Amino acid sequence: MTQIKIVRTLRDLRGQIWEWRGSGETIGFVPTMGALHDGHLSLIRLSHKHTSKSVASIFVNPTQFAPGEDFESYPRTEEADVAALASAGCDLVYIPEPGSMYEENHSTSIHITGVAESLETDHRPTFFDGVAIVVAKLLNRCAPDVAIFGEKDYQQLATIRRLVIDLDMPVKIVGAPIARDAHGLALSSRNQYFDVEGLALARKLNVIMQDCAEKMRGGMNVDLAAAQAKQTFLDTGFESVDYVSVASTHSLTPLAGGILDRPARLLIALHCKGVRLIDNCEI
Ligand code: PAJ
Repeated sequence: MTQIKIVRTLRDLRGQIWEWRGSGETIGFVPTMGALHDGHLSLIRLSHKHTSKSVASIFVNPTQFAPGEDFESYPRTEEADVAALASAGCDLVYIPEPGSMYEENHSTSIHITGVAESLETDHRPTFFDGVAIVVAKLLNRCAPDVAIFGEKDYQQLATIRRLVIDLDMPVKIVGAPIARDAHGLALSSRNQYFDVEGLALARKLNVIMQDCAEKMRGGMNVDLAAAQAKQTFLDTGFESVDYVSVASTHSLTPLAGGILDRPARLLIALHCKGVRLIDNCEI
């Protein structure tokens, strides 16, 4: 097991990064909010394929939670997270003190249009503003060569790709495939909110999504297939569906007339026993 180093101040983070850079190491970075599962660890493992050192951060970012969301109750499991990162071969974990990310007079915001509009933003209007500012700050703090983000949060990944291009940030963004449990449920820190019944229902999300994608591949109009899938989710017991949408793989623009005329992604957000789930797959 790698000896993992824990740093809590920007000074210590930069000190270690500069030391590594001085000896020719390259840096891969995986930002997280903790409550780590194998999906997060798959990002660390992928990082090793790109760079010689891997750095993770754990910071539950208040600016991406809206009032009434689960910021206060978001699982905080630092000790287990550090052990899991060490077992995945992570070299350093940066755990900023909660008050040290946003100074009292912090006044800068980043608002991204285009890819960051619609889908999640229709339901969580300030979410990507919060993600953009914290990811920009974390990338500036860590200054990695490569940063890895999961395709599980597909619109987030597209938004971060836009952010680093628009702000000329010298970092390569790598997308990691979605890690799923043996039943196909995308791993998520929020899955631990489920009881047995909730878990069984949640596992049906991927089954219905794959069936819908298959119909689309088979030539069914994507708007019709999406509407049918939405109804199936409701009939199966999910309490509400935020969206079942098809968008172009890179720009996330909708397909005109429901015609599958270019590489596209099926994206879904719904509510399952009080927990909001998102998932997606390539069509
Ligand atoms: P968090 O939800 O902790 O996720 C951290 C990273 O792990 C994200 O890039 C996410 O897409 C990835 N991830 C989560 N579950 C995954 C799975 N099942 N398979 C593959 N990758 C998965 O996303 C965030 O935190 C925050 O918004 C953050 C980017 C850290 C900014 O605060």
